[in-house]
Amino acid sequence: MLRTHTCGELTLQDVGKKVTLAGWVDRIRDLGGVKFIMLRDRYGLTQVVLSPEIEVDLRREAVVQVEGLVRERPKETVNKDLSTGEIEVIAERVKILSSPSKDLPFYPGETKLPAEDVRLKYRYIDLRRREAMDRIITRHKVAQAVREYLGAQGFIEVETPFLTKSTPEGARDFLVPSRLKPGTFYALPQSPQLFKQLLMLSGLDRYFQIVRCFRDEDLRADRQPEFTQIDIEMSFNTREDVMQVTEGMLRYVFKKVLGIELPEKLDRLTYEYCMNTYGSDKPDRRIQMQFKDFSEFFRDSDYHVVLNVLKNDGVVKGFVAKGLSQKMTRKLADELDQLAKAFGVGGVLWFAIDVNGVMRGAALKHLQKSYEAISKDLSMQPEDVCIIAAGKNTDVNNALGEIRKSLGEQFYSHLKSGFDIFWVIDFPMFEYSDEEKRFVAQHHPFTMPNLEDLAEYRGSDLSKIRAQSYDIVINGFEVGSGSVRIHNAELQREVFELMQLTEEEIKVKFGFLLEAFQYGAPPHGGIALGLDRLVAIMCGVSSIRDVIAFPKTSSGVCPLTGAPDIVSERQLKELKINLGGD
Ligand code: AMO
Repeated sequence: MLRTHTCGELTLQDVGKKVTLAGWVDRIRDLGGVKFIMLRDRYGLTQVVLSPEIEVDLRREAVVQVEGLVRERPKETVNKDLSTGEIEVIAERVKILSSPSKDLPFYPGETKLPAEDVRLKYRYIDLRRREAMDRIITRHKVAQAVREYLGAQGFIEVETPFLTKSTPEGARDFLVPSRLKPGTFYALPQSPQLFKQLLMLSGLDRYFQIVRCFRDEDLRADRQPEFTQIDIEMSFNTREDVMQVTEGMLRYVFKKVLGIELPEKLDRLTYEYCMNTYGSDKPDRRIQMQFKDFSEFFRDSDYHVVLNVLKNDGVVKGFVAKGLSQKMTRKLADELDQLAKAFGVGGVLWFAIDVNGVMRGAALKHLQKSYEAISKDLSMQPEDVCIIAAGKNTDVNNALGEIRKSLGEQFYSHLKSGFDIFWVIDFPMFEYSDEEKRFVAQHHPFTMPNLEDLAEYRGSDLSKIRAQSYDIVINGFEVGSGSVRIHNAELQREVFELMQLTEEEIKVKFGFLLEAFQYGAPPHGGIALGLDRLVAIMCGVSSIRDVIAFPKTSSGVCPLTGAPDIVSERQLKELKINLGGD
C-alpha cells in the first residue's frame, strides 16, 4: 500500500509514530517558510507541516504521498471539528503522485459552488466534497442494510433482464434496437414487475432485488430516467404481510444508518381519507393544515356562488394556516386564487384574525356571523388564517391540496424536521384517462381489485372499485408502492378487458403471463421502494440527483459524458436504422 494510515484516523494515541499518508491537497497555508497543508481522502483531513527544507511545488488538488512523524498539535491550534484535529504530521518526505496541469473548474474545499450543470460535468471533482461523498456512502449503507434485513428474512436476490419487453408502469419505454433481428426492439424495464411475479410462479417464494429501472418520462427533482428500486415480492401472503416486512425493513434501515427508531407500527390512512383531509395521496403531515367541511356554515349565507355549489351537491371546505395573518397580502391571496382556479374551483375565500383579535379578509362579508362559528370550530388563534374553497369535492380537495402544499413550501419549512412516515391504502383500481378516453390502471393492471367492489361496480362505475394496493409515504413523497396481485388468468383477462385492451393487444403484450397463470400460480404480492427517494429523504436533500453518483440533468442529459449522443453511420447501418433527413 502507498499509505500506512488514512487521513481520518490519526489521534493523540499515534503521537510519535512514523506514518505514510496519501491523498489530495485540500488547502495550503504558507506562513513564510513553513507550509501547512490539509491532506484529504475519503476518510477525512489531516494537517501536514512542511518545513522550508522540503522542496516541493505543491498545487491544490495534487495527489501526494507524505511520510512523516505524528506530533501533538500546540494547544492553540487544536481543531475540535476534525477527528484528527489534535495531531499533525511533520513531513519528512513528500512525493507528488499527480499534479493538476491546470486550474480546476472549482475546488471541493470551497463553500461557494458553481451551478449544478458545472458540478455534474465535473462530477468526479464534485464528489470529492465531503457532503457529496457522504451521501453516496449513505446510499451504500442503506443498500447494505436492506440486503442484511431481507437476507435474514429468507428473501433471495435474483437478477432479472434489462433487455426485455415493455412493462407497463405508466411511462414511455427506452428502446434498444436489435441487430440480430433488424426492425425489432428490446425495451429496458420500467420495473421487474412481470419477472418477479413469474419468479413466484417458480416457487422462489420470497424475492428481492436492488435494481435499476428505466422510464422515459418528464423529469423532476424526484424523478430520473434511470433510478433504483428495492423490489420485493412474496408468495402465500396477505397485504398485511408485505406491509409488515416493509415496515421491518425500514425500521432496520433507519436504525442502522441514522440511529433513528421508527414507530413500532406505522399509521394506515385510506386514499379517500388522505384526499379529503389533505388533498393529496402523499401528504406531508408535519405541516398540519387538515381540511374540514364547512358546508353547514354556509347554508344560510346570501352568497349565491357558494349556495349554487351546495345546491349542486358541492362542498365548502377549508383549513387553518397558523400564524400566517401578516403574510396574507393581496398578492398572496391572488396567488392562492390562481392555484385554485387551475383545479376548476372559482377561487378561495379567506379570513384572518389579526394580532389584536380583529377579523379581516375577503370572506367576512359573505359569511354573516358564521365566521365566528367557523373560527371556533377550527380553534383559531390570533394571527391564524382560514382558507376556504367551494366546488365539487374532488376539485376542492385538489385545489386546497395544492394551496396547502404551496404554503407549506413557502412558510412552514421550519416544521419540516424528522420523519413523517405512513401507509396509504385502498387506492382506486382504475382512473379515467382523458388522453386515452378509457380507464387505465391506477397502479398497474396486475393489481388485485377489491373483489366485492368488482362484483358491485364492474358493469356500472369502474372508478368506485378499490385496489388491494398500498403506498409508503415519507415526508410528502411516495417512496414505495405495491399491491396484492392477480394470480388467475380469468380475472387478469377481465381487468385487461375493463381497460379496453383488444384481444390482439392482450395476446401480444401479456399472452405469456396469462399462459403462465394456467400452470399453477400461488397467491402473491409485493412492493417496490425508490432507493433514490428513500436515501434523499434520509440525507435531507430535496433532489434525488444528490444521492446518485452520476445523475442526468432535468433534460435527461449526462453533462459529463455528453449522453445521449449521435452514433456512427456504420452502427446505424448494422441496425438497419435509417434516420431519414438529407
Ligand atoms: P411504481 O411505479 O410506483 O411501482 O414505482 C415504485 C417506486 O419507484 C420510485 N420511482 C422513481 N424514482 C425515481 N425516478 C423515477 N422516475 C421513479 N419512478 C418511480 C418511487 C415509486 O414509489 N412494479 C411496481 C411496484 C410493485 O407493484 O411492486 C412499481 O414499479 O419511489
